[in-house]
Amino acid sequence: MWTKVAWLTVSTGVLGSGIALQNSALPKEPPTPLGTPPPVSFPANNSYSAAKADLGEKLFYEGKMSKTGATPCTWCHVPDQGFGDVRTLSTGDLRTSIRRHTPSLTNVGYAKILFWDGRSNDLEKQSLIPLAAHDEMDMDLNKLPSILKKADYEPLFQAAFGTPEITTQRIAQALATFERTLTENDTPFDRYLNGDNQAMSEKAIQGLKLFQGKANCISCHGGPHFSNAFIPGKNPYANTGVAQPPIFDEDLGRFEQSKLEVDKKAFKIPTLRGIGNSPPYMHTGRFKSLRDVVEFYERGGDEERLPKLNLTEAEKSALVEFLRRGITSQ
Ligand code: HEC
Ligand code: HEC
Repeated sequence: MWTKVAWLTVSTGVLGSGIALQNSALPKEPPTPLGTPPPVSFPANNSYSAAKADLGEKLFYEGKMSKTGATPCTWCHVPDQGFGDVRTLSTGDLRTSIRRHTPSLTNVGYAKILFWDGRSNDLEKQSLIPLAAHDEMDMDLNKLPSILKKADYEPLFQAAFGTPEITTQRIAQALATFERTLTENDTPFDRYLNGDNQAMSEKAIQGLKLFQGKANCISCHGGPHFSNAFIPGKNPYANTGVAQPPIFDEDLGRFEQSKLEVDKKAFKIPTLRGIGNSPPYMHTGRFKSLRDVVEFYERGGDEERLPKLNLTEAEKSALVEFLRRGITSQ
């Protein structure tokens, strides 16, 4: 008798938590409609000028910004890859792997939450983090101004800031200004939304319907950026159960910052604008193609924290078409 009751309790417990677990990753509130973002805004204390954006771009490509001279920002944020990295994991100035996949920088100028775990919210301050990080660019920030001075940067700082002084603050401001120009807001989807019925193929239109309907991607990837992380008041993080490679210590994601149980293995919901340009996918970079990503959601994620989708082959391929050709400029 006792055993039976215990068994019942245990089995209900397992079942109950199983169900709760399955739905726990899905937001409860209604999704925010998709749309086209407004033009990016530049903060009052770091307004836009073409000279500043040009300087930022040059710095972004500048190898001398790293200790060995061989690791510019573009070493990991590759321009042809939506400023992400085709490698699963990038290597830093020491040519050792870093533990998370390099994200695309598309529309990063709109982001209020930076990094996969949201540990920064300021594009200016953020840019000094990889510069100084030992496993990334390994640069001594005190030495950087004189290195750039020797490399003839003073006239460019003069043009951007009115005086030739090179400071880390100005470096950060120029980099952030350049990053705010990396936008993807005129995709076939945007043109379709604004009345051009020919802008997307029938297949991509079907994919859009699935995205908002049966596949319910919109519940997390909502709003003009296809990400709740860009919508004030929404939970920017979710644990979709992406299996992690065994080579590093377990990555607890947002939990590492918040220490909240609900954030364990939750990661920032990334924007999907320009997504066709920046394989592989996820914070682990484990999926080589959008097809692999759709298969992942089809099975409810690696840990079945999400409901299975039951998409037909034609539906999966329509969803991929929408991601690859609908919301990525051609
Ligand atoms: C060694 C590879 C590497 C280099 C070099 C590098 N980054 Fe990154 N970058 C990454 C990785 C990996 C992440 C994600 C890390 C994480 O989330 O924990 C990232 C994240 C970012 C983000 C946040 C993006 C987002 O949407 O959350 C920005 C912005 C960024 N990097 C800008 C830069 C700038 C500017 C430089 C040059 C000064 C630079 N990075 C150099 C690998 C690199
Ligand atoms: C419960 C919230 C949630 C739902 C529902 C969801 N996603 Fe995601 N999506 C995320 C999170 C969080 C990540 C990042 C996960 C990680 O890296 O571990 C992500 C990552 C992605 C990526 C990779 C982006 C990149 O830059 O690497 C793609 C593509 C994607 N999702 C597409 C979809 C599609 C298509 C659907 C619908 C079938 C969908 N998502 C449903 C939360 C969600």
